[in-house]
Formats: sequence, structure tokens, C-alpha cells
Amino acid sequence: MNPILEAIEKRQSLRNFGGPAVTDGERKQILHAAMRAPTAGNMMMYSVIQIRSKETLQTLAETCDHQPFIGKASFGLLFLADLQKWHDYFCAVGLEKEFTAEELAPKASDLLLGINDAVIAAQTAVIAAESLGVGSCYIGDIMEQKEIHQKLFSLPRWVFPAAFLVFGKAPEGSSRPMTPRFDEKYVVFDETYQTLGSDDFDEMFARYTEKEKEWGVSFGEKLFKRKMVSDFAMEMDRSVRAYWREWMGEEE
Ligand SMILES: Cc1cc2nc3c(=O)[nH]c(=O)nc-3n(C[C@H](O)[C@H](O)[C@H](O)COP(=O)(O)O)c2cc1C
Repeated sequence: MNPILEAIEKRQSLRNFGGPAVTDGERKQILHAAMRAPTAGNMMMYSVIQIRSKETLQTLAETCDHQPFIGKASFGLLFLADLQKWHDYFCAVGLEKEFTAEELAPKASDLLLGINDAVIAAQTAVIAAESLGVGSCYIGDIMEQKEIHQKLFSLPRWVFPAAFLVFGKAPEGSSRPMTPRFDEKYVVFDETYQTLGSDDFDEMFARYTEKEKEWGVSFGEKLFKRKMVSDFAMEMDRSVRAYWREWMGEEE
């Protein structure tokens, strides 16, 4: 296996940041690698906020659904879908004379492209970090608490927090089992989309059959209640809808 495939194979989300601090040199290499990621139209419709302040990391440990390990990270990188700078640039070169405010406003598709750009850069940072022996973990809860996070990072209207990563090193000698993945046949389809049925699901989720007897409910029911309709999921939905309305200029 070549070193890149090896890094991809061995990577796992790290939440135990009890090892030595990530050095400035390593952080700079990770950022440099992230910026080499592919980007739509070479426009880099993203910005990255590096978070080195312990105080800010502690705040995020609370506002991102109470995850204390965030506060122990060496640093965090917040990848923002950023169309604000493009909007401001287009205005700066005089396009306001030719186009209406509505025409100059970033569109829904720009938001999705910006999110693509930001997430691709983030994942490039993850792999670069892994290659340097630096662990990382995504924090999806960064999309929650819009009002608090916009204020904390001074985010303007056409900026959306697409991905948040925390970085650190594991204590020497620590290890844990790799997380499993679904069988490839449920993920990779040939040529056209394949709709899955009950028999497929029985096989796809077979690894939970024993546990289901213990729980007295299906894995699906357990997961749905924990992830899809829980308090944090409701808050994420509220917050994302509020970002969307603000981006699109829809009335509250
Ligand atoms: C978009 C996204 C959001 C995530 N959010 C969190 C999070 O808030 N907290 C956390 O501990 N892990 C989070 N994770 C990590 C996943 O739980 C982890 O990737 C998954 O369980 C697979 O484990 P592995 O990364 O070790 O292979 C997130 C991962 C992704 C891709």
C-alpha cells in the first residue's frame, strides 16, 4: 500500500487529545495542504478561521452540543463557505453600476458550491494531518447556534460554517478498534441508482441483530430517535434554516 492509501486506511476520528501539542510547523503544513485542494472554478469560495484560543475552544465545547474534548484540542479549523468576499469584490470592481443588488447577491447554488469547496479543503486537511501523525475530528454541531457562532466569529451574511475540525495528538501507545463501514454493494452502485428493500436492509444492518435483542427495538428506531429527532438535531435544523433564510434574503 502506498503512504497516501495507508494514511487513509489508518485514519480514525480522534477525540483523545492527551498526546503532545501539534507544532506550529505541522499546523502550517496542514493549512497549506488544505489550500491545494480542488476548488470550483479555482475561486476558493471558502475561508478558514484558525482557532488557537483555548477560551474559544472551550466556548465551542459548550455551544457544539457539549463535547468537552473540543476544549482539549491543540487547535481548530473552521471551514466557511464564503461568497461574501466574492460579492464584495464584484461590488468593488464597479458591477453595482451594471447589475441590481438582487443579481449581485450570491445564489442557492453558490452556497452549495461554497460548501463543496470548504468541505473538500477540510478533508484534504484531515488527510494531510494524518500523514503527519496529527489526529482530527469533525464537529457537525458547528451548524447549530447560528446567532452565537455568527457573533463569536464575526460572520457576515454570505458566510456559512460548512465544516469544523479539531486537531491534536493521541497519547503514546493508545489505540481503539476501527469503525466499521457498510458493505460496498450498499454504497457503490453500477451505472444507475439502486433502491434498497427490506432484505437489503436486513443484511446491511445485520451487525446489529444481536444488539437489537438486548435493546428491544430495531437499530433504525434507536438511531432515528437519537439522531434525527433529538434536541441537537432540532437545533441544527432551526439554525440551518435561519442561515438559509438570511442567505436567500427571505423574510423571517
Ligand atoms: C460531517 C461530520 C460531522 C461529525 N460530527 C461529529 C461530532 O460532532 N462529534 C464527534 O465526536 N464526531 C463527529 N464526527 C465524526 C464521526 O462520528 C466519525 O467520522 C464516524 O463515527 C466514523 O468514525 P471514524 O471517523 O473514526 O472512521 C463527524 C463526522 C462528520 C463527517
